[in-house]
Amino acid sequence: MSYISLEQIDKKYNINTAAEVHALRGVSLEINKGQFVSIVGPSGSGKSTLLHIIGCIDTATGGRYMIQDKDLSQINNKELAEIRNKKIGFVLQEFGLILNNTSIDNVSIPLMFSKTKLKDIKNKAYDTLKKVGIEDLAYKKVNQLSGGQRQRVAIARALINDPQIILADEPTGSLDQNTSMDIIKLLMELNEDGRTVIIVTHNIEIAQMCDRIVTIKDGMIMGE
Ligand SMILES: Nc1ncnc2c1ncn2[C@@H]1O[C@H](COP(=O)(O)OP(=O)(O)OP(=O)(O)O)[C@@H](O)[C@H]1O
Ligand SMILES: [Mg+2]
Repeated sequence: MSYISLEQIDKKYNINTAAEVHALRGVSLEINKGQFVSIVGPSGSGKSTLLHIIGCIDTATGGRYMIQDKDLSQINNKELAEIRNKKIGFVLQEFGLILNNTSIDNVSIPLMFSKTKLKDIKNKAYDTLKKVGIEDLAYKKVNQLSGGQRQRVAIARALINDPQIILADEPTGSLDQNTSMDIIKLLMELNEDGRTVIIVTHNIEIAQMCDRIVTIKDGMIMGE
């Protein structure tokens, strides 16, 4: 049994309305622990949808999804949120940061719902910013940071709970080539520490640096 297993995953948005979209059509995918996987494909092909399902941000409308033998298609939202918090670090497309807040406050967010003391949260957030090399920007507002710096804040936020699975949707989307390579190197280091990393990318050069390239088109896997 694989670490991450998707069997015939289907996803429809706005079911039974005029606006229904069939975003994923029977996607089956097996990912082993410690793999570095890239997902590529045209705009609108379902890449973000797939990553959101893997990341327990959204649920499938059909098929079976398992992490470490646990069937996530059968559990309630509370359990799903728990798995998301414990196991998964998600770097959203366009970062998903609160621009008017400082870096350290953004990185703290995933722990604000835990019972951790505020002082401990801030210490942990600072250490995580250090891990991605931008602790000197801790007290700067995100809207004063460059794209590459923002991406590091987003990665730090995904790392604060020390997740075993890291998902990143276009982590280099708006970055120049040098900054993109820095970000990919950072993700590779996290992978070398044993974490499973799955990224969506349009950048072929970056995709080729991964263990696997999964191509998706019209909501279906076209090959590897
Ligand atoms: N929340 C939503 N409600 C309705 N339709 C959606 C929603 N999210 C995505 N879709 C639709 O599902 C399909 C797949 O979208 P998705 O965002 O997964 O594509 P993508 O491959 O990530 O594209 P891009 O490269 O532009 O980010 C598209 O037709 C999109 O319009
Ligand atoms: Mg997308």
